[in-house]
Amino acid sequence: MRRPLVAPSILSADFANLGQAVDDIAASGADWIHVDVMDGNFVPPITFGAKMVEDLRGRAALPFDVHLMTRAPENLVPAFAAAGADYITFHLEAAVHAHRVLQNIRGLGKKAGVSIVPSTPAGALSCLLPFVDLVLVMTVNPGYGGQTCITECFSKIEYLARLRTEQKLDFLLSVDGGINESTARGAAAAGADVLVTGSAFFGAADRAAFVERLRG
Ligand code: DX5
Ligand code: ZN
Repeated sequence: MRRPLVAPSILSADFANLGQAVDDIAASGADWIHVDVMDGNFVPPITFGAKMVEDLRGRAALPFDVHLMTRAPENLVPAFAAAGADYITFHLEAAVHAHRVLQNIRGLGKKAGVSIVPSTPAGALSCLLPFVDLVLVMTVNPGYGGQTCITECFSKIEYLARLRTEQKLDFLLSVDGGINESTARGAAAAGADVLVTGSAFFGAADRAAFVERLRG
C-alpha cells in the first residue's frame, strides 16, 4: 500500500491567524494545504474567497487543494485558478455541466477534481473518471469540521479504486470528513491517496507526529 498524502484543512484553524495556520501545516511536514470554500448556499457557512488563497499562497510551497462547496462552481474557477490554486475540486451535486467545469479547470492549467457527498453513489462519477485528476469522496455531509466519519462511504473509495485499475486511469482518490488516527487506516486501506484532516490536525499536540501517524 502506498503511503497516503496528508492535507490539513485550514477550516479548523483560527481564522484570525490563517497565515500562521499555513506556516504550521508546512512545518508539520504535511503534503498539501486543503482550503474549504463555502458559499452560504450549497452549504450554510461562508468561508473563503479567492483573495484568501492569493494572500496565503506565498506562505508555503505546498500545493493548495481548493475544495469548492459552492453552487455554480464554474463562476469561481477562474478566480481561484488566478489566485494560485493547484487542485480545484467542485461538487458533482452543484454542477449542471460537470464535464465542462472539469475542462475549464484543466484549460486554466490546474488539476481538476470532482467531489461527492455521502448520499451520492460513486457510480454517478463513472462518465467523468477519464477527465479528472482527483476524486474527493466526502465522509461527512459538507459544511462543518469536527463531524464523525461515515465509514460506510469507504466502500465508494474501494469501488472507484477498482474502476481506476480496470480502466487504467491515474486520478488521485481523496477522502474528507472525520479523518483522524482511528479512521485513517480504513480510508487508506480502501484506496485513499489523500487524507484531508481538519479538527484532528489542529487539535493534535504534536502535529508533525500526528501527520506521520496518519500516514501509517
Ligand atoms: C467539511 C470540509 C472538510 C472538513 C474536514 O465540509 O470539506 O474539509 O474541514 O474537517 P474534519 O477533519 O474536522 O472533519
Ligand atoms: Zn474539504
